[in-house]
Amino acid sequence: MEFTEVLTHRRSVRSYMSRPVEESKLKRIFEAANIAPSAGNLQGYQVRVVRDQSKRNALAKAAHGQGFLAEAPVCLVFCADPDRSAVRYGKRGRELYCIQDATIAGTFAMLAAVDVGLATVWVGDFDEKEVQQVLEVKSIRPVAIFSLGYAAEQPQPSPRRAIEEIFQGDFPQTD
Ligand SMILES: Cc1cc2nc3c(=O)[nH]c(=O)nc-3n(C[C@H](O)[C@H](O)[C@H](O)COP(=O)(O)O)c2cc1C
Repeated sequence: MEFTEVLTHRRSVRSYMSRPVEESKLKRIFEAANIAPSAGNLQGYQVRVVRDQSKRNALAKAAHGQGFLAEAPVCLVFCADPDRSAVRYGKRGRELYCIQDATIAGTFAMLAAVDVGLATVWVGDFDEKEVQQVLEVKSIRPVAIFSLGYAAEQPQPSPRRAIEEIFQGDFPQTD
């Protein structure tokens, strides 16, 4: 797909087919996440790949009953790794950079998923401690859970704010 096509085709998809995700597609997504920029190139994050049905059920529960996490064949949990970023950047690394690193890697993964014909939704509404328990981790912070699979719905585009409301200052002139 062309880059602009990837951007415009992406939607939050909350209904999935049971069709499994090909390993080669998963690898393409992981490679895309891995080339995302990160503070000091430290890549202060980890991604947990969850395919086990009972764990996906538990993630859906931790996300206050968002059942599509159990429905999609794969969940990716993007976790900030505060200790990794703190080694070089101290408090700012621990509190900010690792979260930015995880979210930008997630964004790259999300767009790569579209590029290979898959769908996702970014889930931020979950109990962090409960997700840590499901993943059996303590020192990393789950910041986003993605459901990943083949879409069983084609949502319409969501409305957006006016560009002029968001971008302020030296706005582009007509060429
Ligand atoms: C930080 C963040 C948290 C989100 N949390 C949830 C969530 O918990 N559940 C959900 O269904 N969608 C969630 N979304 C998806 C948004 O609802 C969605 O991106 C927005 O409505 C725009 O729709 P679109 O993605 O189809 O363009 C989240 C998105 C972001 C970026």
